[in-house]
Amino acid sequence: MAQDPKYELPTYTPTARGLHWLIALLILIQFPIAFYMTYRGYEMPAVNDKGEAVKGVFDGVTGFFYSWHKVIGLTIFFLVLIRLAYRLTRGAPRPDPSVPKPLTGISHLVHWLIYALLIAVPIIGYRGISYGRYLDVFGFSLPAVTEKNEDLSKEVFEWHERAAIVLLLLVSLHIAAAIYHRFFRKDRVVERMLPKRSLDA
Ligand code: HEM
Ligand code: HEM
Repeated sequence: MAQDPKYELPTYTPTARGLHWLIALLILIQFPIAFYMTYRGYEMPAVNDKGEAVKGVFDGVTGFFYSWHKVIGLTIFFLVLIRLAYRLTRGAPRPDPSVPKPLTGISHLVHWLIYALLIAVPIIGYRGISYGRYLDVFGFSLPAVTEKNEDLSKEVFEWHERAAIVLLLLVSLHIAAAIYHRFFRKDRVVERMLPKRSLDA
């Protein structure tokens, strides 16, 4: 656990902060890609080869976004495994003593639920592509981990989407809490996760 010498504010280590912001950035990119690729694939008004109006198109552009979604999703998964291993072995700075205990408890609960979903959502997504054999990523094939079963693939993707929406709600709550701490409660909780130089300002 790092200690800022000037303010004696316990902060997350540079490694913990680096991993936090890298994963946060990827999550914020991943959701718009997920919504756009499925909109393009299933909803977008398009014209097929016969000149008929259809809903949704699975062309190279849609495939490009699907490939990125899989690559980013797997990257998030492996980064979270590293982050969790680091967190479980190195711990976290002690909670800000100015924050009431029940609030600290709720924030810890939300953090651990976010970790759980950051692991579960990619695993469920991978099972979905494995059952459906949608294993292509930029022309390369990921390994299948299940037998082929398209019905199960559809069902698994519904769970993937539901779990991802819960993750999005928790992350929104987490960001709202950061805004509350910084601008309403005016405590120093957010500084614990910011680069050190902002503390010297
Ligand atoms: C934390 C990581 C991930 C997040 C937040 C996420 C989020 C989402 C969301 C919200 C959707 C639903 C979009 C919609 O229907 O409007 C979706 C769909 C999908 N995800 Fe993920 N995902 C993640 C990881 C993965 C991984 C690792 C894979 C596979 C390697 C994957 C494969 C897919 C596929 C193929 C779909 C589209 C399913 C369909 O066409 O019905 N996702 N994802
Ligand atoms: C967008 C995706 C994000 C994810 C998935 C995420 C996830 C997490 C997790 C799991 C923790 C717990 C760290 C630990 O103790 O192990 C955490 C802490 C923290 N996050 Fe995020 N975060 C995200 C975005 C943000 C944003 C945008 C902000 C600020 C505006 C933020 C500010 C913080 C702060 C200040 C802490 C430390 C809280 C404390 O010391 O108790 N996070 N985040």
